[in-house]
Parts: sequence; C-alpha cells; structure tokens
Amino acid sequence: MALLEVSDLTVSFYTPEGVVTAVDDLSYTIERGEKFGVVGESGAGKSVTALSLLRLIESPGRIESGEILLDGEDILEMSETEVRRIRGNRIAMIFQDAQTALNPVYTIGEQIAEAIRHHLDYDDAAARTRAIELLDQVGIPDAESRYSDYPHEFSGGMQQRAVIAMALSCDPDVLIADEPTTALDVTTEAKILDLLEDLTDEFDTAVQLITHDLGVVAELCDRVMVMYAGEAVEKASVEQLYYDPKHPYTVGLMSSIPRVGDDRERLRTIPGSMPDEAEVPSGCRFHPRCPYAEDVCKRKHPPLAPPDEDADASERSARCLEYTGDLTYGLDFQVSVEGETDDPVPGGSHE
Ligand SMILES: Nc1ncnc2c1ncn2[C@@H]1O[C@H](COP(=O)(O)OP(=O)(O)OP(=O)(O)O)[C@@H](O)[C@H]1O
Ligand SMILES: [Mg+2]
Repeated sequence: MALLEVSDLTVSFYTPEGVVTAVDDLSYTIERGEKFGVVGESGAGKSVTALSLLRLIESPGRIESGEILLDGEDILEMSETEVRRIRGNRIAMIFQDAQTALNPVYTIGEQIAEAIRHHLDYDDAAARTRAIELLDQVGIPDAESRYSDYPHEFSGGMQQRAVIAMALSCDPDVLIADEPTTALDVTTEAKILDLLEDLTDEFDTAVQLITHDLGVVAELCDRVMVMYAGEAVEKASVEQLYYDPKHPYTVGLMSSIPRVGDDRERLRTIPGSMPDEAEVPSGCRFHPRCPYAEDVCKRKHPPLAPPDEDADASERSARCLEYTGDLTYGLDFQVSVEGETDDPVPGGSHE
C-alpha cells in the first residue's frame, strides 16, 4: 500500500464569475520516503491540491469528490478532530509564503517549542531542549542563543530553516513543501534544498515538493507530476522527464530552463498563458498553445495514457492524443541534452 494515495480528486471554487474547477480528477500516489515533485505554471492547481490533503480548502472552495488515503484511511471521510491530529503530526506543510508561518511577536524558539508541546505532549523544558536541537540540526549557528531571537532578527534563509525545523519537529510521514525556496537567492536556495534532502532522508520523510522550477525538482525528487490547468498532464521519473519528456507542455517547460553555455539572453518561454479555469478550452486544454496541435485536439480530451507500449501506466503517462493514436502528424520533438554531466539538469543550474 502506498503511503498516500490520491484518487479522482476534484476541487472547485464557487466564485461570482462562475464555478472554477481548480483541480480536476487528479490521481497520484506517494510511497513512504519518496520525494515527489509537482510542477506547473502559476494557477495550475498545485497549492489547491496540497491544501486539499490537509482539508484546508475554504469557502468558496469545495472538495467535490475523490479519495485521499493516508495509509489506507480516507482523510476526506475523517472527523474534524481526526484531521486536526493528522495536521502537523503526520502531514506537515511548509506554506508558499513561509515568512507568514512565523509570528513576528514570538521568538523563533518559542514558536518551535510551542509546535512540539502542541503535538508531542512534551513539558516546557523538554520542548525547549528539543527546539534548540532542531535549530542546530537545520544549521542555525549558536542555536541556544538564537532561540530567543525574533523572526525579524533572522535572514530569509534562516527563517526558512526555522520553518523547516518547525515542520519536521513532529517527525511527519509526509512533508508538503510549497515553493519552499522561491523567495531566496540561488546560493541560499541550494543550501536549503540540500538541508531538506538530508533531513528528509534521515527521517525517511516523504516529500511532496511543489514548484514551478524544474531545476529544483531535479535536485530533490525521484518522481514528478506535471500539472496544467488543474490536470496531471505527465507523470514520470525525474530521469524520464528530463531525457525523454512526452508531453509538449513538459517540453516547453524544459526549454525554459537556463542552461550553462547558453548564450540566449532571455529564457525561452512557452507562447501564450495558461487558461483561466473558468473558461477551459475544449478538447486538450493545452491545444491553444501547442505547436503540434491538430484539429482533433480541439475536440477530443486526451486521457492520461502510457506513452510506449511497454510502459506501465501507473509509472509513466502523458495526456496527449499522440498516445491514443489520434494524431496524424505526430510529435517530432527532439530533446537535446547539451554539455551533459551526470546531473539530470543539464548544466546543473543549482550548484
Ligand atoms: N480562494 C480562491 N477563490 C477562487 N479561486 C481560487 C481560489 N484559490 C484558488 N483558486 C483557483 O484555483 C486555481 C489554482 O490555484 P493554485 O493556488 O492551486 O495554483 P498554483 O498552481 O499553486 O499556482 P502558483 O504557482 O501561482 O502558486 C487558480 O488559478 C484559481 O483559479
Ligand atoms: Mg501555489
């Protein structure tokens, strides 16, 4: 049994402009200790998916249907009390706006100690000791004296380390990290990613890492799901995704990664933008931006299909009519991997 099994999850927002289906019939699994990446442009439904796992979707949003099994138990069927027990204890989340996770009027140490007391039934002294240990573990120098610092006395990178310490304080089974490094400079980002990797390996914590940055995924993840307009459009291992992407949208995302030795001044981007979910295109949702689209793509909504005959659909799939035999001309993209090293991101943009 997988640790986390999401099936047919659909989440809608009832806005004055109409019903917006932010996550549409989404399914994926995460194994114990696995590092699972979720990528896609802004508005793809990544954060809404994450919030659904903790049942934190608020009005006007609603989880319409689906199952979210944690060790076989459906989170969507649990009582509010049971869900509260899961939050922080079994599924912890680093929110997209990490700075707001820290309360400016309490010291960093008090906040971590409070999380520990709340979840683990420690007394004050034990919680304090554990909080200092954790601060030390996430690389805060002189943790004992920094315990009494307020958030504004920490740099952005140190704040993010403190947030990670808080998230891992209860040894969760799954850590959801929503854009954990977006606000940081590249050097700090690389250090924080290393830290996340080391700590989650050490505690055997599964990670659902949300990002719009494929370089970040390559650093940390084993498997990846690419989302577009509320749907999964490709699922693959990190290696498959980088060396042999199967969906034109994934190929587009790849070509917007900067590469070492690349003298283009600006990044190539995929022409157009993601549709507003209130007006999703007919057929394949990506067709208005797809360089390979044919007439059939406007009419037929592609299923997630294994891209090769021998591929196991649960391991590898793409939502493109190429793989249902509907395209006349087919896809002919070539992914050129230049300046190859053993780093799956050509040139290793996060070194
Ligand atoms: N509170 C809300 N009210 C109305 N619609 C919402 C709300 N929250 C999310 N949505 C809808 O859900 C879509 C997906 O939002 P989500 O926050 O999951 O995107 P995301 O993939 O996390 O993007 P980003 O990379 O910008 O964080 C949005 O485009 C929007 O249409
Ligand atoms: Mg988001």
